[in-house]
Amino acid sequence: MSNTQQDDKPSGILSTQPPNFSPGAVLEFARTYYGLTGSLSPLDSERDQNFLISSTAGDQYVIKISNSAMDPALLEMQVEALEHIARVDPELPVPRIIYSRNDSALEQIQTAGGLAHYVHVLTYLPGRYPKDDPAARSLLRPMGACLARLALSLRGFSHPAADYKLLWDLKQSAKLKAYLHYIPEPEHRQLASYFLERFEQHVLPEIPKLRAQVVHNDFVPNNVVVAEDYPGKIVGIIDFGDLIHSLLVTDLAAMLAQVILGYDDPVDAAGEIIAAYHESIPLEPAEIRLLYDLIAARLTMLNVIAAWRVTLYPGNREYITGGVEQVWDMLGVWRGLDPAEVTKRFFRACGLWEQQAAHPIPGHPSGTREDHLKRRARALGPYVYLFYERPLHIVRGEGVWLYDDEGKRYLDVYNNVPHVGHCHPHVVKAIADQAAKLNTSTRYMHDLIIEFAERITNRTPEPLSVCTFVCSGSEANELAWRMAKLVSGNRGALITRFSYHGNADATVQFSTEVVPQEELPTHVQTIYPPLSNSAFRKPDSGINKAIHNLSESGHRPAMLMLDSGFTSDGIFTPPPGYLSMLYTETRLAGGICVADEVQTGFGRLGEYFWGYEFDGVAPDILTMGKPMGNGHPVAAVVTRPEIAEALAAKTGYFNTYGGNPVSCAAGLAVLNVIEAEGLQRNALAVGAYLSGRLQAIGAAHPNLGEPHGSGLLLGVDILKPDGSPDPNLAKRIKNHMRENGVLIGTTGPHDNVLKIRPPIIFNQEHAETLLAALSQALEEC
Ligand SMILES: Cc1ncc(COP(=O)(O)O)c(C=O)c1O
Repeated sequence: MSNTQQDDKPSGILSTQPPNFSPGAVLEFARTYYGLTGSLSPLDSERDQNFLISSTAGDQYVIKISNSAMDPALLEMQVEALEHIARVDPELPVPRIIYSRNDSALEQIQTAGGLAHYVHVLTYLPGRYPKDDPAARSLLRPMGACLARLALSLRGFSHPAADYKLLWDLKQSAKLKAYLHYIPEPEHRQLASYFLERFEQHVLPEIPKLRAQVVHNDFVPNNVVVAEDYPGKIVGIIDFGDLIHSLLVTDLAAMLAQVILGYDDPVDAAGEIIAAYHESIPLEPAEIRLLYDLIAARLTMLNVIAAWRVTLYPGNREYITGGVEQVWDMLGVWRGLDPAEVTKRFFRACGLWEQQAAHPIPGHPSGTREDHLKRRARALGPYVYLFYERPLHIVRGEGVWLYDDEGKRYLDVYNNVPHVGHCHPHVVKAIADQAAKLNTSTRYMHDLIIEFAERITNRTPEPLSVCTFVCSGSEANELAWRMAKLVSGNRGALITRFSYHGNADATVQFSTEVVPQEELPTHVQTIYPPLSNSAFRKPDSGINKAIHNLSESGHRPAMLMLDSGFTSDGIFTPPPGYLSMLYTETRLAGGICVADEVQTGFGRLGEYFWGYEFDGVAPDILTMGKPMGNGHPVAAVVTRPEIAEALAAKTGYFNTYGGNPVSCAAGLAVLNVIEAEGLQRNALAVGAYLSGRLQAIGAAHPNLGEPHGSGLLLGVDILKPDGSPDPNLAKRIKNHMRENGVLIGTTGPHDNVLKIRPPIIFNQEHAETLLAALSQALEEC
């Protein structure tokens, strides 16, 4: 992929046709300018025209005719670099420059139309090209050692043209974002975008602190020659076309990205190369820490540029896209790896891990576990309880993974708040960028809040068009309650029998999971949740009785509030007819209907963006929260204009933090990721797969019931042999899985339903990890 200066301009080297001289014209040129006669055979080149000339005297040379867009200053730089290397390390097998009869390293050849192309002639380095077997293990250490030696030989070299803009320069990777639209497949685009976001977040800020010099920048198996009889001996280094002043470590990363492609354990292969490189050029910790992201950026670069170039040269598709699939596969593998673990292995390869591990991680709590637990109990009080018999000390999250203080990673099957994955780089960046710019209240005009409100209400049915931002699901439901009382003129609430709607004064009383039925105030009455995804208690799930009970104490319903996924009631999607029946009865009795989508919104359920859609109804108020900001506290209430107007006329509404620009940036970033990564579709597909596999495991296991729920909100009952709930076994399973690296929760009135509610980037492989841990727990508990 040797392409050089101003390559991303329309007139650049990546978009200008290579020269096309006839062999006859080239032979004539070689004879006239170099006194060379012999036979000519073409050599591969993407942007130039190269020939091998076998002279009548028995010598072999390479004639390189440069692309017309090539800056001669860069050619001069390449010539000078080769001469520098020959002086500094004469044994290093690089081509030697052949001077013309004019004693010049560069000559010019003209097309019939008078267009001049620069020409230079080099000695040909005979040997074998390992590119046909780049995964030859014997090449790993020599590649690392040889690249280091080459970099050392260039250490003292400088040239005024060296600091130019090259799209193939890894430190320019952020520029590739502008090319993402050339990638046709959304999942590939998403993968590329993910790694470019990581690059911006992790690498960009470090660049000014790193060692830089002129580097080869394309030291890959295509550009080395090995001995005919010994594939581990490098006898030639060719193609200095990407030579540039860049980070020293990018030279290494560019090579690693391409060499690891053929390996089942790419980290191991990379480790061997790194170790050999490190022996000659000791890597600095700051460089090692960036290698995971630099390798990813280089792989991304290969495919983004290929996707772009294929649109410029469709006739050359096969050549340009030849390796693209393998690179996508590797990027997929790379994303599945734990960056910290990869970095640790790279440190180990350099023999630096012990030293590194000895440094305390900033912000990492000190003291023993017992101290920590004691301090916590004292400082936070008894109600802030911890999950699991052996509480977890989580220090980091990424994607579907959480990491504890000992570096162990856990598959997160429990947390729905990091909806698009823990610490998604796009969301993190959106939050950080906006926090660095402005954060204030809704009392000033700001574009983001309008955009966010519109993006949400674009997804709600008319006339649900007014969006009020708050900070938590509890606040959203409190506001919905105030609105309901105001527009209905009533004071009663209808909820399900084991519900959760919040922690504030009103909403805690709508949370029968917290307040036992018998302690509920008379203005709150309960109905039955669904019996399954397809059935409910006929004829009316107890709503008429509940309305009657309200009237007994002088109340009429102000609202029916339902969690559309019945998450605390045991996890069900609304069965057909259930919501429509309840909505009709509530409205007949003078109340309005509130869909609490705090758990279910934003595509988790797969089939629909909101849970109420399962029964084709439209609520009067929609509340949302948890997944909205991927962990940033953002929540909202969407309602009809006349309900908002009624509130405005009565008291108005102000929330200090609700709708602040940082929250809106977070929320918009989440929506962008859901859309760009097709995550609702993913929830549907992976949820269906998981549900089918759970069913199959359940068929063979008497303790496991049928799964219910939808998409990536699934519940599966743990039962005794007689079919009754078994909360003790559920608890043992939960703790067993935790010890095995899979985090799951329990729910339902009997606490015997395993709650499956991971970030919705959860894929089939993650599902298999979960199922394996569950099967093992079922066997061993
Ligand atoms: C269905 C439902 N509604 C509301 C809430 C309250 O949200 P928050 O904890 O953000 O106040 C929750 C929280 O778990 C919930 O599950």
